[in-house]
Amino acid sequence: MAEAHSQEEPSHYNTTAIRVAEQLHEARVQNLRNLRKAQEAAGQAVGPEQLFPAFNRAGLGVALEYERMGHQPVSAGLTARSVELGVRFEHLGLTLGSVLHGVDLKGELTEELVAFIRDALLERKVIFFRDQHLSEDEQVAFGRRFGELDAFPFAKSGDNPYIVEISHDENHPGTENGWHTDVTWMEQPSLGSIAQCVQTPPIGGDTLFSDSHACLLGMPAGLFEQIEHLHGINDYRIFLTTRSPGGLPEELVSSIKAQIPFGVAHPLVRTHPETGKAGLYIHGGFLRHDSLYDSRSGEALDPGESKALVRELLTQHSRPEYQCRFHWEPGSVAFWDNRAVQHYATSDYFPHPRLLRRVTVSGDKPFYDPSIPLRTAD
Ligand code: SIN
Repeated sequence: MAEAHSQEEPSHYNTTAIRVAEQLHEARVQNLRNLRKAQEAAGQAVGPEQLFPAFNRAGLGVALEYERMGHQPVSAGLTARSVELGVRFEHLGLTLGSVLHGVDLKGELTEELVAFIRDALLERKVIFFRDQHLSEDEQVAFGRRFGELDAFPFAKSGDNPYIVEISHDENHPGTENGWHTDVTWMEQPSLGSIAQCVQTPPIGGDTLFSDSHACLLGMPAGLFEQIEHLHGINDYRIFLTTRSPGGLPEELVSSIKAQIPFGVAHPLVRTHPETGKAGLYIHGGFLRHDSLYDSRSGEALDPGESKALVRELLTQHSRPEYQCRFHWEPGSVAFWDNRAVQHYATSDYFPHPRLLRRVTVSGDKPFYDPSIPLRTAD
């Protein structure tokens, strides 16, 4: 027979703590009631802004993005289409990241299925498929269903020139472990990237994705107003210096710069061209940290101020609230929207090898449209 749980008399401290907790709870409930009454009288509803603490807005960013999604991970329309197509969603985060089960990317990709995948990408920002094992040509053909592809000039390509190999081993530790969105050094950075895992380390090697829209909505108060109209200069210097030990011949560097636009300006706040949502758009490796300027007046920020602001912005995506994490297996495919997420490949598996093959779908020139409200409710 189970013994009755014996409850000791609370100590003096605990008696006080329990009484204080009850008093505080009562006072907070009353506060919220008063707030609701006051807001109702003013014809307003108590929104998440009043419920989250002002000094820690990460949860608020996710809540506001979820509100904009209609408080559902995918729309009713997309859910209905998934049922018709026999696709099951496994959501990894509230506002981003879903594994799509029941899709064979080697099989017949009807227009209907491709349109569904594209809409799933727009709603979920990054989508995943398991056990695909595409050949390079099949991966390229899949990418082409979503637009033109960009070849990548600064890393080893696969047998198919549109494949870039992201390969690490005991001589080449993982270096993609900083929050970034792909190829911001291009005038028209890629719409999305499609990576397939070929080889995984025995442990680790996950990739994290962070919601750029939620991140913008959850910024510390005042930061958005500070950066709303700022642009910065991005360049591919990093590929010509740190990634080329021993340096490169001057003539080669000059010739590359003459052929591929060098030093392109992009907004820090980018409007997604398809969903209309604004997001924080930054790549700390390519952005010149001292290069921020006001796009309306053309006036440059003081270099110190510019650097301090960039430093602050580079920490925004790192809040776990905005993220989902994907564990790769050979044959896993990730398709992320570079206009809606940042990603970070953990470098936690050295000296083991890890190999991904990536294609990038061509995108368009980033812009910011201040006339589109940040929130549905605005
Ligand atoms: C990248 O595209 O930055 C690399 C992604 C990864 O290696 O997981």
